[in-house]
Amino acid sequence: MRAIVFERNGGPQVLELKEVPAPVPGDGEVLVDVEAVGVNYRDVYERNGGGYGSEPPAIIGAEGAGTIRDTGDRVAWAHVAGSYAEQIAGPRALLVQLPDGVSTEVAAAALLQGMTAHYLAADSYPISPGDWVLVHAAAGGVGLLLTQIAKARGGRVIATTSTEEKASLARGAGADEVIGYEGFAVQAKEITGGEGVAAIYDGVGKATFLEGFNALGPAGRMILYGAASGRPDPIDPGMLVAGSWYVQRPTLGTYTRTPELLQERAGEVFELIDSGKLDIRIGARYPLEQARQAHEDLEARKTTGKILLTP
Ligand SMILES: NC(=O)c1ccc[n+]([C@@H]2O[C@H](COP(=O)([O-])OP(=O)(O)OC[C@H]3O[C@@H](n4cnc5c(N)ncnc54)[C@H](OP(=O)(O)O)[C@@H]3O)[C@@H](O)[C@H]2O)c1
Repeated sequence: MRAIVFERNGGPQVLELKEVPAPVPGDGEVLVDVEAVGVNYRDVYERNGGGYGSEPPAIIGAEGAGTIRDTGDRVAWAHVAGSYAEQIAGPRALLVQLPDGVSTEVAAAALLQGMTAHYLAADSYPISPGDWVLVHAAAGGVGLLLTQIAKARGGRVIATTSTEEKASLARGAGADEVIGYEGFAVQAKEITGGEGVAAIYDGVGKATFLEGFNALGPAGRMILYGAASGRPDPIDPGMLVAGSWYVQRPTLGTYTRTPELLQERAGEVFELIDSGKLDIRIGARYPLEQARQAHEDLEARKTTGKILLTP
């Protein structure tokens, strides 16, 4: 089968299309024909190295959707190593059955980032009606979904984006105010009448994390869920006294750590899609062999919404 392999850590150039042996399912696993592969920022961290995902040599990726060879059941997954491939041997406990109302492609586009947006809005800081929250990179994969879920919970969203095109996508997802990164904390303070926001959802990291505290309201929650611009510098916990603030560094793995939690969270995301409350924007599709280009575009901030690879 064809797969995207990285034999060493490094830039997008380490991604290579290779012919490799088809996976052989072990105990508790099934062979799945992959129809769509989800590209996520985690794949960039995995490729770069530093303790995230598989060690090279390996097939990269973690998310996708397809059909179980033996049963014809449609399934999706967010935590199966080696997903940039025509087939995977998927552990049953990590596969989520797809409801009729959700296409296989939409499932591959929605599962990882949708469950992330869901736990961020429902658990990391449970958004209540009227709350102001700040969503960084709101036109990105997680960002567009988080903005919609925040609005569905009655929150008010201040969104950051880097271009006018992205700003208009964030508005389309329901953001109340869309601003640039320059001076975002001062602007957020002004928009909230000086109070500051109840929570900041920051997947950008180094470029935004520290400044964000200037936008946080009393007992506000700083939720650092990623580092697209690099890992932020460490902070002194003593600085949190200025606003009795909380800091969380969450990961989807915690919120889907058992098969039951995974099925429940996935079910809630599919229900939002099926009922028309969550729109999944597929910003770009690339053939599997163009995985390198997909990574280049993602890191160059050229993409919006979800990126998929088609094996
Ligand atoms: N903790 C978790 O459970 C979890 C799960 C899924 C994803 N994540 C994190 O969520 C974040 C978003 O992931 P995603 O897959 O949805 O990607 P994405 O948001 O579609 O792409 C990243 C976006 O970040 C923004 N950005 C700002 N500074 C950047 C920089 N220096 N380099 C690259 N991008 C920059 C860009 O939007 P603008 O051009 O508008 O700034 C870019 O489009 C990542 O940090 C990822 O690690 C965390």
